[in-house]
Amino acid sequence: MSPHGYMPRNPAASYRRRSQSLMRLAAVAAIILLILLYSFTRGRSSSSSSAVSIFSLGLLGASPHHDFQLETVRYYDLSNVQGTARGWEREERILMCVPLRDAEIHLPMFFSHLRNLTYPHRLLDVAFLVSDSKDDTSGFVTRAMEEIQNDPDERMHFGEVSIIEKDFGQTVNQDFVSRHGFAAQAGRRKLMARARNWLLSAALRPYHSWVYWRDVDVETAPFTILEDLMRHNKDIIVPNVWRPLPDWLGGEQPYDLNSWQESETALALAETLDEDAVIVEGYAEYATYRPHLAYLRDPSGDPDVEMELDGVGGVSILAKAKVFRYGVHFPAFSFERHAETEGFGKMARRMNLSVVGLPHYTIWHLYEPSVDDIKHMEQMKREQLAQEQAEKERAEKARKLKENFGDTTSQWERDKANLQNIAAQAKQDAAAAAGAAERDAQGVEKVMADSGGKKEAKT
Ligand SMILES: *[C@@H]1O[C@H](CO)[C@@H](O)[C@H](O)[C@H]1NC(C)=O
Ligand SMILES: *[C@@H]1O[C@H](CO)[C@@H](O)[C@H](O)[C@H]1NC(C)=O
Repeated sequence: MSPHGYMPRNPAASYRRRSQSLMRLAAVAAIILLILLYSFTRGRSSSSSSAVSIFSLGLLGASPHHDFQLETVRYYDLSNVQGTARGWEREERILMCVPLRDAEIHLPMFFSHLRNLTYPHRLLDVAFLVSDSKDDTSGFVTRAMEEIQNDPDERMHFGEVSIIEKDFGQTVNQDFVSRHGFAAQAGRRKLMARARNWLLSAALRPYHSWVYWRDVDVETAPFTILEDLMRHNKDIIVPNVWRPLPDWLGGEQPYDLNSWQESETALALAETLDEDAVIVEGYAEYATYRPHLAYLRDPSGDPDVEMELDGVGGVSILAKAKVFRYGVHFPAFSFERHAETEGFGKMARRMNLSVVGLPHYTIWHLYEPSVDDIKHMEQMKREQLAQEQAEKERAEKARKLKENFGDTTSQWERDKANLQNIAAQAKQDAAAAAGAAERDAQGVEKVMADSGGKKEAKT
């Protein structure tokens, strides 16, 4: 493990403190020596008891509740960090644990959620575990946290931030298909459990009252989620987790099937399995017929309704820190035929702790397409392309048609113009012809008159 970005204490400062303490001790010892020497020379015992009282005033008598003299010794009163329903009013600190693996693409969304949390940020310590990552998850987290901690708005600043890097040899690909394949489940869950325990034990401090586990690929969640969950005052509590779907798949779907109540069928099934077997929910291979938190959702239901659970999912868990202090953890082995978060829920139940889910309080996981979805989407894309192609051809045809029609129009207009010309010409001709006829008629009369006259003249 290489602690990255988190330095518990400046070594130089601690050395300085240590040498200061040593000097202080030496001074006290010198004074005691002088007093002893003094009382020895005075020869009688009354003053030696006063020497002891001075000594105890200096060091032994210092109440740990008040100013403790040695700076390298920490005193914690854990009676104040039990975790209560209105922790934000009692300054209860939450440790937020975020396991990360090749998560760079989801991080902008995650940090947007982090900024929007309404729980007082100064009471929130954030611990990231970056493991088995090939992308720049760790660099992104470091830069994003530095930016938040330097925000001009002081209310943005979080408490202590730890970024821990540690590989666990997780080789299953981080895409939806590989992560959710049945064969990979047990091994993957056991490694996830190790990572969670590692992160928690590295980051949990005595002053934490709560621990909040949050996945980075949550798309939509209320900004008040910490207060909303805390208000129930349970040892372990989870919301319902659904995911939005593209319209062609019907809009939405249950996502987290790891939050469930135990069933007789599943208990009977567990009996038949090998000691090391791990039952994972949501696969046809293990038909458990358990009541799942996800399927009990009623979109118009009361978000405060509670349901007792045995297994919990890890997308968003709020737990009292004392749960972990009791020794409940994420089993990286088969505990009652379960591992990781489901085993965590079972173990907590075995210790008589309260484990609760909220069926009608829903947060939304990012939609990642499955193999079938990808196939379907490719099919849809092909259909869409074909449709676009057809559309284009139709448009082309229409364009050509219009061009032709446009030619016809101009032709017709030309013809019309011609016709009009012809008509005008004809009118002119007609007028001209009429004029000529009139002139001819007059001419005839004249001729007639002339001829009459001529006739007369002849006769
Ligand atoms: C955080 O709040 C801002 C402002 O209200 C909003 O635009 C943004 O979408 C929120 N982020 C998330 C992840 O909900
Ligand atoms: C849990 O409670 C039951 C019934 O009250 C009791 O028998 C059992 O010993 C308790 N277990 C633990 C671990 O406290």
